[in-house]
Amino acid sequence: MKVRILIIGLIGFGLVIVLLARGCESPANKGEALYLSKCANCHGDEGKGFSIYPPLANSNYLVKNKDDFACIVYYGIEGEITVNGQKYSQRMLGDPTLSATQIANLMNYVYGKWGKDKTEVNSEDVERRLNNCESKLVK
Ligand code: HEC
Repeated sequence: MKVRILIIGLIGFGLVIVLLARGCESPANKGEALYLSKCANCHGDEGKGFSIYPPLANSNYLVKNKDDFACIVYYGIEGEITVNGQKYSQRMLGDPTLSATQIANLMNYVYGKWGKDKTEVNSEDVERRLNNCESKLVK
């Protein structure tokens, strides 16, 4: 009986720690967590890309098309693009389950870390951009 109480106590303690740690996450950390779970599979943990997947780290495309970032992530992108002088002609699916806040976190992480651009955006900025996308959902 005592062992059971101890185990339940330990699990409860663990849960509290996890919840506390989540509560302390800064938006940039949230962006990192999102990046690692939603983007790193293709673009790599360090954003370097590989084979058919273009890099995000030091991508001149990323810098030139900052206004399109939210649209690319939300609606996806297809057709030929040139990133750092290399042509890519693939398809990236959009993720319309992402909220404006999540896209803002992602954007602040990606641009802050790899885009040499520390200007932070918020969810209203992202919503404004999403209202002006030319793209349609890539499925
Ligand atoms: C299943 C693979 C895959 C995933 C997951 C993925 N991408 Fe992509 N991404 C691609 C491909 C392929 C392209 C190139 C599309 C083309 O050729 O038109 C691309 C292009 C891009 C571009 C424009 C080109 C560049 O390198 O600057 C950006 C920005 C981008 N992705 C961001 C993201 C972000 C942010 C996420 C996570 C929310 C993400 N991608 C998730 C495959 C993926």
